[in-house]
Amino acid sequence: MTQPVQTLPLGTPLSPSAARVMLLGAGELGKEVLIALQRLGVETIAVDRYEHAPGQQVAHHARTITMSDPAQLRALIEAERPHLVVPEIEAIATPVLEELEAQGVVRVIPTARAARLTMDREGIRRLAAETLGLPTSPYRFCDSLAELQAAIAGENGPGIGYPCIVKPVMSSSGKGQSKIDGPADVDKAWDYAMAGGRVSHGRVIVEGFIDFDYEITLLTVRAAGQGATQGQVATYFCEPIGHLQVSGDYVESWQPHPMSAQALAKAREIAKAVTDNLGGQGLFGVELFVKGDQVWFSEVSPRPHDTGLVTLSTQVQSEFELHARAILGLPVDTRLRAPGASAVIYGGVDTQDVVFDGVAEALSEPGTDLRLFGKPESFVKRRMGVALATDATVDAARQKARTAAAKVKPRAAR
Ligand SMILES: Nc1ncnc2c1ncn2[C@@H]1O[C@H](COP(=O)(O)OP(=O)(O)OP(=O)(O)O)[C@@H](O)[C@H]1O
Ligand SMILES: [Mg+2]
Repeated sequence: MTQPVQTLPLGTPLSPSAARVMLLGAGELGKEVLIALQRLGVETIAVDRYEHAPGQQVAHHARTITMSDPAQLRALIEAERPHLVVPEIEAIATPVLEELEAQGVVRVIPTARAARLTMDREGIRRLAAETLGLPTSPYRFCDSLAELQAAIAGENGPGIGYPCIVKPVMSSSGKGQSKIDGPADVDKAWDYAMAGGRVSHGRVIVEGFIDFDYEITLLTVRAAGQGATQGQVATYFCEPIGHLQVSGDYVESWQPHPMSAQALAKAREIAKAVTDNLGGQGLFGVELFVKGDQVWFSEVSPRPHDTGLVTLSTQVQSEFELHARAILGLPVDTRLRAPGASAVIYGGVDTQDVVFDGVAEALSEPGTDLRLFGKPESFVKRRMGVALATDATVDAARQKARTAAAKVKPRAAR
């Protein structure tokens, strides 16, 4: 189904002609989207749950609310009246977005329905596997330890078996997620999921473990078509991004990840099916598992993806610029500039006044770059920055990014 491109006239910030965009979530990914919008003269409103969030530091306006509270979210959108609302996180009162979108009050990126379906694992998994018939890991949803045990053992339907992975339906970055290798691990995995979920919501997904060769993020952009698709939304793909996850959290990513022609075609087909269904305009991070020529859909973010931070150095237009252009109805260019890699810099300390040693050393290697996110509070396992590198090959770039990240040493100022 074709969809006409929606454009937003660009004007002058802080004047009546301004194009006004509200980011719901202003972390490190939102910050880069905000910078890309600022460069096009868009007036920006950065919303987060705490003050001085990274994106709030670069936006025209900073607002601090609980975005999962429907009353607070509605009041803010109605008071600010942005042209576009751009969710950057999952924990948002999405029914409010659906109502306001249906009333024509705002346009939600990519669509309010996409924000709702991807806010928990159930909506998107059922859409991908049951509605679209895409290949996924086998899965069941469970509301108690007893149901989890039964789902694995196969008491009420086909059993998931071992090994399997348990995840709270509402969580991200691997929180509350664990692998189960045998019956002895089930109780512990349930308790861990209950402690790690985003809201106290006793529901989990249990998935069969996919023994993949590698996993990728396929950044997929729904943006203004060119040539034959002029005036319509068209789909563009970035080169596949490979990544390494530790405890469900991304630690390294690189681009391009080599794939067989057949696996790449399959990956694009899956990404196209999911993003066509979610609709709207914007960039999506489609997470896929690959073994040989076989590809499984894992999940999708209807927004820039953390592993896509690598595109700040590898692409002609980063995933953040692509998102900004796509939502404004502008043409995009998804070409790779150079092979490259990213490596995460964790806080390493718990402090409200972090300083970074070793930055000059990290940047001394040509082809190395850095982002320090400016988060007001550091935790041992909080992502505080990222090292970026380009080189002649992905392997060389990975080595360079890892070395640069290791040279940056966060410490408490006092
Ligand atoms: N069924 C599975 N089989 C094998 N590995 C899996 C499976 N599900 C998840 N994983 C591994 O765990 C990682 C995190 O899982 P998933 O993406 O579902 O969680 P998440 O909390 O949403 O993570 P993030 O928010 O960082 O994307 C995956 O990238 C993959 O490495
Ligand atoms: Mg994921």
